[in-house]
Amino acid sequence: MPDVKISIRRNGSLHVEGPFTLIDSNGQEIPINKPAISLCRCGHSNNKPFCDGSHKTCDFQGAEAHILAAEAAAAGSGAQ
Ligand code: FES
Repeated sequence: MPDVKISIRRNGSLHVEGPFTLIDSNGQEIPINKPAISLCRCGHSNNKPFCDGSHKTCDFQGAEAHILAAEAAAAGSGAQ
């Protein structure tokens, strides 16, 4: 069975490796000519669905970073 590996990059894209097929919203296959791609998770890419690095300039925080920041802020204010 082929393995597909999807890695969530810290405050960045979803990195997809392995044999996979990418289908657009019209049901059409998007040709992929390389073994790995990065999909945009921040919504700011000018080349969706692919990551173009825009997450670095839009201050994107993945959910995990956002939760940690919120928890740290709550701990600092005495809120629980
Ligand atoms: S995750 Fe990289 S441009 Fe959106």
